[in-house]
Amino acid sequence: VRSGTFALVLLGALMAYYVYLPLPEDIEQRWKLMLTDCAFRSLSHLSLGLKDYMGVMMLVTFAERVVPQSDERVRVEDERFDGVEVVVYQPRRDVCAGERRRAVIYLHGGGWCLGSTRMGPYDSLAREMVTELNAVVVSVEYRLAPAHRFPVPFEDAYRAAKYFLSADVLGSYDVDPERVAVSGDSAGGNLAAVVVQQVGVKPRIKPKAQALIYPVLQALDLNTPSYRQNRHMPILPRTLMVRFWSEYLSSDKSVLLSMLANAHNGPDSAPFLRFANWSVFLHESHRRTYDYVAPPVNEGELPGALARSVTDPRASPLLVPDAALRPLPKAYVLTCEYDVLRDDGMMYVERLRLAGVHVTHQHYPAGFHGALMFTVWPTDFRIARQMVNDYLLWLKQNL
Ligand SMILES: *[C@@H]1O[C@H](CO)[C@@H](O)[C@H](O)[C@H]1NC(C)=O
Repeated sequence: VRSGTFALVLLGALMAYYVYLPLPEDIEQRWKLMLTDCAFRSLSHLSLGLKDYMGVMMLVTFAERVVPQSDERVRVEDERFDGVEVVVYQPRRDVCAGERRRAVIYLHGGGWCLGSTRMGPYDSLAREMVTELNAVVVSVEYRLAPAHRFPVPFEDAYRAAKYFLSADVLGSYDVDPERVAVSGDSAGGNLAAVVVQQVGVKPRIKPKAQALIYPVLQALDLNTPSYRQNRHMPILPRTLMVRFWSEYLSSDKSVLLSMLANAHNGPDSAPFLRFANWSVFLHESHRRTYDYVAPPVNEGELPGALARSVTDPRASPLLVPDAALRPLPKAYVLTCEYDVLRDDGMMYVERLRLAGVHVTHQHYPAGFHGALMFTVWPTDFRIARQMVNDYLLWLKQNL
């Protein structure tokens, strides 16, 4: 009953976001106008047909859209980094005179299909990072699936990061090259982990730290204990996460059904299964009562592109060998108990530690996926504030 009530409250809150439209103060009966406008928007969306599932989901992104603007403390500019759209936030006045700035390259969440740097919660988070850390924040507006499937979102994130991680560009923002972090939440945590792995491949300025907030890290096994335990959790039920994976990796409609059945692996997956073997990388207390069953490897035909992308570490960064983990920068990994992605994060923590990388693992026993976003009324949760504070504190002490 409690989770039902919670879902209802959340739905109401999301509806309020959808209805809300910032209108000038002097317009009278603004709520009536908002509701009328909302009715029109709903009609126009319904007439497009509910088939366009991602289109409907995208409403949430638009409903939370803000136009990031400079204020007395933070300067905000739209830029293009090697052709990729980014929003750059920087301090108007340096907090500590004489000290060069930190920087955070931030990748927003939304299952590679939704979301934007310009959503209210991401805009406020970027502003807090600027003022709390005296940092330049580069928030990347990577292109989204299904219009732009893997590897486009990754490539956009990588190109923007590579462009920024050059002595000239960092210098022009007065950033200390020794103090750059890459960070992101959910699918953005996936992109952040991949970017950190890939920029390490060639010699150039390397990030000092990575901060991964409930990241998505592998597509091989969509039946880990956390996927099973939390399959009906609000914000990110298993069907939605699987949907995001299938939209990201493939245009073939049958992929969704195979993935829902965890029957999407072909012979190419076999050598990678050990990297996502949760009977090895999850501590006993996190395996719960579940018995490990390796995802079946199908001999039959898989859609060609999927067979390759499902094992591509640029999509599933958990699947790199230990040698690729060893040189990685220190990491902060946030996991939530009530999250299908909990075990992705926990396995990465364990693999990084075994490879000798310094990891701070922050687990929220009462946390749920997406919580960090809920800092703004009416969808404000105490845990969101706690998460933001903990995250900023780690960056303060480690960047
Ligand atoms: C997973 O680990 C268990 C326990 O070590 C082992 O028996 C099993 O063969 C492994 N499976 C895969 C696919 O790596």
